[in-house]
Amino acid sequence: MKGLILSGGKGTRLYPLTYTSAKQLIPIANRPVLVRVIEAIRDAGITEIGLVVGDTAPEIERVVKQGTQWGVNITYIRQESPLGLAHAVKISQDFLGDERFVMFLGDNVIQGGISPLIGKFAESGYNAQVVLTRVDQPQQYGVAELGADKRIIRLVEKPKDPPSDLALVGIYMFDPHIFEAVNSIAPSWRGELEITDAIQWLIEHQYNVHPYIHTGWWIDTGRPGDMLTANSLALEELTPVIEGYVDRESEVDSRVTVERGAEIINSVVRGPAIIGQDTRLVNAYVGPFTSIYHHCLIENAEISRSIVLEYSQICNVGHRIEDSLIGRHVVVQRSPMRPRAYKFTLGDHSQLGLVGEGA
Ligand code: TTP
Repeated sequence: MKGLILSGGKGTRLYPLTYTSAKQLIPIANRPVLVRVIEAIRDAGITEIGLVVGDTAPEIERVVKQGTQWGVNITYIRQESPLGLAHAVKISQDFLGDERFVMFLGDNVIQGGISPLIGKFAESGYNAQVVLTRVDQPQQYGVAELGADKRIIRLVEKPKDPPSDLALVGIYMFDPHIFEAVNSIAPSWRGELEITDAIQWLIEHQYNVHPYIHTGWWIDTGRPGDMLTANSLALEELTPVIEGYVDRESEVDSRVTVERGAEIINSVVRGPAIIGQDTRLVNAYVGPFTSIYHHCLIENAEISRSIVLEYSQICNVGHRIEDSLIGRHVVVQRSPMRPRAYKFTLGDHSQLGLVGEGA
């Protein structure tokens, strides 16, 4: 089997972080989502992986290279514009040839990896296998209707009146019949070739599309809130290690990871949390469910349930920062200059939650 990871797209829901950079490279518990996807595929025994990339190709190639670091062999497949998940399959036909393959959305995080699902598909005669999971609000997802024999009868995108609470997870397994499907369907109202339409085509042409119901957690990290949820869940699964320096005045509990070169001075860190390589905490409080990435400085400040990306600094901030996703090279600090006013340089689509005196 081969692997196909989709890492193109625009990432509009994560603006401004994704104006200039790939959302798949945002770290969850200090490991980029895309790296987690590559490792999940490798752990399932698949080493030939096609990576569909769009405008952020240079940044992704800089990090992933040929994949040797993870023991896989990456082939880059350039998608000129994000014309849909089924379009990504279509342009990957040369790479995939007539092998069965697993397609994994590069911004999805799943608990427990994919070895069980791959094993099931590899030894089956199914033409496709889709992963489903129970969700609270099926109206927001692609939803499957199962028949009495537990086969999939139909798939519906964001149904007003959902036929079930089984949502499609961004992991699919196909045999080469999928190419007949992606070459037969027409673009949807939003101008994209939809993978749900391609799967529906397989069902209608009597191909065997098997549902696999995943019972652990799964997060599509499309929006900032989802990133924070995925970060919390991934942090809870991390085995803590202390490789950096923690001084005697600091209090670091047993669920905290301190990476190489990090320094914790006169600070309190409550886990689950991770402090990245060469990051410094000075007189700081880092609360649970927080990931601080590499080369950051948190000084005289408090932060919890947040993600901070590399080279950012948060210094001398009076109020605790919570539920925040802070980009790269960001500086948040108290300004000594008069007049005493908030001074911002914010990118388009930034969101700022101020603590006010008023109601
Ligand atoms: P989406 O989250 O559906 O789309 P997006 O990344 O453009 O985000 P937004 O809706 O916020 O603008 O994409 C899921 C994954 O598939 C993501 O990793 C990007 C990738 N993708 C492609 O590689 N090609 C495509 O044509 C599309 C639509 C998505």
